[in-house]
Formats: sequence, structure tokens, C-alpha cells
Amino acid sequence: MTWLITGGAGYIGAHVVRAMREADEEVVVYDDLSTGIAGRVPEGVPLVEGSTLDGELLSRTLTGHGITGVVHLAAKKQVGESVDRPLHYYRENVEGLRVLLSAVTEAQVPSFVFSSSAAVYGMPDVDLVTERTPCVPMSPYGETKLAGEWLVRATGRATGQSTACLRYFNVAGAAAPELADVGVFNLVPMVFEKLTDAAAPRIFGDDYPTPDGTCVRDYIHVVDLAEAHVAAARRLKASPGTDLTLNIGRGEGVSVREMIDRINALTGYDRHPVVTERRAGDPARVVASADRIATELGWKARHDIDDMISSAWEGWLRRHPEATAS
Ligand code: UD1
Repeated sequence: MTWLITGGAGYIGAHVVRAMREADEEVVVYDDLSTGIAGRVPEGVPLVEGSTLDGELLSRTLTGHGITGVVHLAAKKQVGESVDRPLHYYRENVEGLRVLLSAVTEAQVPSFVFSSSAAVYGMPDVDLVTERTPCVPMSPYGETKLAGEWLVRATGRATGQSTACLRYFNVAGAAAPELADVGVFNLVPMVFEKLTDAAAPRIFGDDYPTPDGTCVRDYIHVVDLAEAHVAAARRLKASPGTDLTLNIGRGEGVSVREMIDRINALTGYDRHPVVTERRAGDPARVVASADRIATELGWKARHDIDDMISSAWEGWLRRHPEATAS
């Protein structure tokens, strides 16, 4: 079986490629290299440079490489940017997916794993978010992920293809320093950046209805997340007609203040955070129930918060050696 990993040169995609190879699956990477990095693709793995909007190249790739399953991660993923550029997000994330599914259907590829997000839930008013919690996305980004799930499921039902929609919670960490996230869009790298710049990490609001007043999230190590893709891919391969929608989280809430405390402790800094205004659109608490994926795939996260922070910090230091605390 050969898997096409779209977005396989990206931060999460490169981890999925690595995990699939470790599980002895054949992979081909398809990436437009807009944010992906060719150097992340391991030697011996074919890299096809192209857009998911290019149906012809996709069809040639699927048939040319004898692809029998797709893991689709190529997408735009910045919430703020999606608010400013909704048409761009719908084109890349929804139209790109439609074109890909059309090529996949024509080539009769039997398995499809879709990278979705906890952003589909919006502001869930529950302690633990289950896959039955209503989906009310709060941003065009979240809308494109929800619409993507609909497209994937509808196509699967119509064609008999096996599908899995994986809803990622807050992803952090790295399998190796060179695979670390290079974007500075999330809490962990944003705190690293402040430490490096001799500035105070920021807490966006401490008046939320949570134990310490700061927002609570469910952080998941990218290595665990990648292994969940392998488990899903194997399940689809083994059970034709499968239609899965699964949260990928640890089921443990960690507050922004707790994260900053651990980052200080693990990096050797002691930089007190400043509390600023709330960031618009941030839910107080988003924590997964990880029960369904445990039951369905036997998958459970193995790495904790310290593993995520330490491995992300090693990657950060590789690119910012000046950040070492004295
Ligand atoms: C992230 C993703 C979102 C995804 C969700 C779950 C982005 C921008 N958002 O959202 O698409 O659906 O995970 O997968 O990629 N914070 C601070 N100070 C900082 C930075 C962040 O207090 O300097 C706070 C935020 O207000 C938030 C928490 O830290 O409460 C986490 O923020 P972030 O890492 O941006 O992720 P989410 O907003 O949860």
C-alpha cells in the first residue's frame, strides 16, 4: 500500500511521513512548498511539488505512484488570517479538497484520512468535548475544516471509500529539532520568542471562568498525533467502508499560566508573564474527550507537556542559539 501525504513537507505532515515510514508504509509527499520545507522530506521519499487545486497533476500522481490511500494535511491553518482572507481559505481548504477528492474518486483510491481541527467546535460549553458536541466554528478556518469533513464523509458514502476525519487539539513538540514548527503562531513558540527577545511572555486575559483565570487547552505531542494517523490509516486499510470522526487530544486541560510556568522551568528562564487584554474569539476551555479514539483505534497519547516543551525548545535553540538562558 502506498500513501500520498499532502502537506508532507509541513510541520505536522513531516511527522506523519516519519511515523508512516517507521510503520513500514510506503509514502509519497505532495506539497506546494508554500510553507512546507523540501528538506523535511526524508531521502528516498518522492516529493511531488504541486497544489491541491491542480487536478491534472494530482491524477497523474495518484496513478503514476500507484497510490492506494491519501492522508490530506495540505491546508491553510491560521485563524486570524482566515478572518482577513476568507475567500483564500475557502479556495485552498475547501476547493482544494474537492479537486483532490475528485481525483481520488476517479483513481478509485480506497482510503482517505482528513486533517481536521478542534476549531470545528468553536466555543464548546462543555467540560470535555466529545465528537457529538455540536460544531459551531467561530472562524472561516474552522468553517473550512467542518465543510471539509462534510465533503469527505459525503464522498466516502457515495463511493464506498473508507474515511477518517481527525480533529487535532493543540499540537506542540517535535520528534527531532530539525522537524520543529518554524511558525510563531501558537502559545509555545510565542513564549519562546518573548524569552529570546528579553521580553515578558504574554497572557491574553486572566479573567476567564477557569481555576486560575487563564484559558485552558488540551496540548498534544506531534509524535502522538502522527501515530494516531498511522493507526487510522491501518484501520481504513483493514476495514473497507469505515467512516470515523475522532478527536486527537489527551483529555487533560492545561492553563496558559501553567504552560508558561513549565516553559520557564524547562528552559532555565524565570520570566514573569504580563497579563494583557483577552484575544478576540478565544474560548475559555477546550479539552478533548479522547475516549472514542481509544476505543476505535486503541490509540492513547504517550507524551506529556514536559516532552512537548523540551522537544520544541530544542528545535527553537537550533534556529535561535542566542536564546540559551545564562
Ligand atoms: C489553536 C489553533 C486553532 C486550533 C486550536 C485547536 C492557531 C492560531 N490556532 O488555537 O486553529 O483549532 O488550536 O487545535 O493555530 N496565548 C497567550 N499568550 C500568547 C499566545 C497564546 O495567552 O502569547 C493563549 C491564547 O489566548 C489561548 C492559548 O494561549 O488561550 C492557546 O493559544 P494558541 O496556541 O494560539 O492556540 P488556540 O488559540 O487554542
